[in-house]
Amino acid sequence: MGRLEGKTALVTGAASGIGLQTSIRLAEEGARVMMTDINLEKVRQQAEKIGANAAFLKLDITEEEEWISVLDETVKRFDRLDILVNSAGMVLIADVEQITLEDWRKVHAVNLDGTFLGCKHGVRVMKEFGAGSIINLSSVSGMIGGFNLAAYNSSKGAVRMLTKSVALHCARAGYGIRCNSIHPTFIETPMLESMIRDSPDPEKARQTLVRQVPLRRIGKPDDVANMIVYLASDESTFVTGTEMVIDGGVIAQ
Ligand SMILES: NC(=O)c1ccc[n+]([C@@H]2O[C@H](COP(=O)([O-])OP(=O)(O)OC[C@H]3O[C@@H](n4cnc5c(N)ncnc54)[C@H](O)[C@@H]3O)[C@@H](O)[C@H]2O)c1
Repeated sequence: MGRLEGKTALVTGAASGIGLQTSIRLAEEGARVMMTDINLEKVRQQAEKIGANAAFLKLDITEEEEWISVLDETVKRFDRLDILVNSAGMVLIADVEQITLEDWRKVHAVNLDGTFLGCKHGVRVMKEFGAGSIINLSSVSGMIGGFNLAAYNSSKGAVRMLTKSVALHCARAGYGIRCNSIHPTFIETPMLESMIRDSPDPEKARQTLVRQVPLRRIGKPDDVANMIVYLASDESTFVTGTEMVIDGGVIAQ
């Protein structure tokens, strides 16, 4: 407890799954957290459960004007911004032949453009304070392919490389801002649950996922949130531009 005392954070996609559990852990460690999501009602409910260390705002990460006003409001409320977690994202199961151009663009607009806008405006705001940690949610799907994940693979692979460019730019400019990507495998969240539910035989689908993981379980949101706490804290001040894989051994195979 207290590893993030005095720090402030903005989390996207904070109404659900990894973004929600991250907000809970950041607040437990003493950070003040601006929880944002496209779903205002849901993020309001979750922020109220966390209590005094949490506030909330609506943010559609694909809208540049919303980023600008939400970051302004966050700094007004908290006086500074130390941590930005780009967790909002979407998955679409479709191979390269099935996917329409419209869906391809939508997945990239959320997963890639939304993360780019967060990095662009997050750096602009954080550099005024001379320090900061940006944490981008990529995936193991940003490192290894899946036959039916054309747009998801492409967008998450791009987030991985965008992260390195942001990290190197900030290092070169001497801003004191670090930027790292996180690469989880299957994590028990509403995103994964809906993929399992939509499959023809959900129980078989779940067992198939578990069999792919050497540690023989699906990950928990806390497995990811704990890594984010480390990257957000001063324990990781020499860590930038890197890829944190949280996958029970999947890509070691
Ligand atoms: N769950 C997994 O197995 C898994 C594995 C690897 C990577 N990830 C990545 O982790 C991140 C979080 O995933 P999750 O499992 O917690 O998903 P989730 O579906 O539980 O939560 C995603 C949240 O993002 C919000 N969101 C969607 N579009 C948005 C937009 N345009 N603007 C703002 N908010 C928006 C949703 O309202 C939701 O609250 C995603 O980037 C995902 O790709 C998840």
